[in-house]
Amino acid sequence: MSATATTGKGLEGIIAGDTSICQVDQTSLIYRGYEIADLARHATFEEVAYLLLVGEKPDAEQLRFFRDELVANRALPRQVVEYLHAAGPMLAEGTAVPMDVLRTGVSILGNLDKDSQDNSPEANLRKAKRLLAKAPTIIGHMQCIIDGRELVAPNTGGDAKLSHAANLLYLMSGQRPSDDYVKTMDVSLILYAEHDFNASTFTGRVIAGTLSDMHGAVTGAIAALKGPLHGGANEAAMEMLKEIRTDIGPKNEVGAVTEWMHRAFETKRKLMGFGHRVYKNGDHRAGILHKMGRAIAERQGSEQVALFELGEIVQRIMLEEKSIFPNVDFPCGMTYFVMGIPVPQYTPIFVASRLSGWCAHIAEQHANNRLIRPIANYTGAPLRKWRS
Ligand code: SDX
Repeated sequence: MSATATTGKGLEGIIAGDTSICQVDQTSLIYRGYEIADLARHATFEEVAYLLLVGEKPDAEQLRFFRDELVANRALPRQVVEYLHAAGPMLAEGTAVPMDVLRTGVSILGNLDKDSQDNSPEANLRKAKRLLAKAPTIIGHMQCIIDGRELVAPNTGGDAKLSHAANLLYLMSGQRPSDDYVKTMDVSLILYAEHDFNASTFTGRVIAGTLSDMHGAVTGAIAALKGPLHGGANEAAMEMLKEIRTDIGPKNEVGAVTEWMHRAFETKRKLMGFGHRVYKNGDHRAGILHKMGRAIAERQGSEQVALFELGEIVQRIMLEEKSIFPNVDFPCGMTYFVMGIPVPQYTPIFVASRLSGWCAHIAEQHANNRLIRPIANYTGAPLRKWRS
């Protein structure tokens, strides 16, 4: 038995294993050796997903084949479409939110996948591609059902001519998106794709570590990502900004925002979209998305620009008074809002992207596995007799 490492709560600072997929630290975010700003500037999400799943940048032929596979697998099985229609009243009632419905849809996909019980590298890669292809279709069909609209291209899962990011937007709205929306969505998917042993990825690895299957591990990861301390923060951050806007009115008066923030500080309220377990000097992804989202707002009008300016005032106060930086979820909330995406679909879109990282980690765990089983520090009652 090796020496036990003690840790702060939440395994802070503990190295829980090795990975060749991603490196996250104060100075950089690297996917398989490529720096995130380099990928955001020069790659597409399809290329990044291939890089994460296969380990190398695809050449033109490999990329064409990968893209064609994703397109060919976008449509959903009848059983999943039937479930999505059945989930309509659950969503309307509020007993289920889109993240819950996406989680169940993925679970049903597992029940229908011919490779479901096969954890081999080849089967895991096939399942990863099918999940990547189908998650946007679950999101898009779900949004049409919420809106009471006809499903968009249910037989094909969208428009084969559209990229992954463009088709996701098309499936949700029924409108083919503008180039700037497509580029911004594509970069957001690249930024969200992978982040080493974050809570949802680690959840997936723990499940895979028992030699359970990929769909089960992804289902668990979706449940973990939903939480507002993790992926759910992109929705919560936008709801927080809407609350501030309601409370202070349409003008961004710094005094009123400062008063709002101080009331939040007094009640020890966690301000969503801020802080990070690893990044203490800023999230390498946040500035990239903020810039793109703000550029869309500036092409739209003063109300949208005012939202970003409100966000910038909040960021400035958090930094000056708490030394806390925004994480990627803060600019994501504002960016998806000005793109007209319904707030409850923000974290499902995070899933559509992070599936690439999750599936890479699940396959890596299966390929070189040891059961993940830490020990606990007992703080309960001392030893005692049941019959005194
Ligand atoms: C993601 O891990 C990843 O890589 C995740 C992710 C990924 O790509 O997978 O990057 C995606 O999940 C980003 C994080 C999204 N979550 C949020 O925005 C929720 C709000 N953030 C906080 O809950 C918090 O910052 C965490 C959960 C993200 C990190 O928390 P830690 O490391 O456990 O730090 P902590 O909560 O112990 O905070 C340390 C101090 C505390 O003050 P004290 O109680 O010691 O006086 O900083 C304060 C906290 O109160 N603090 C905040 C704050 N974040 C930290 N105070 C107000 N608002 C915040 N957001």
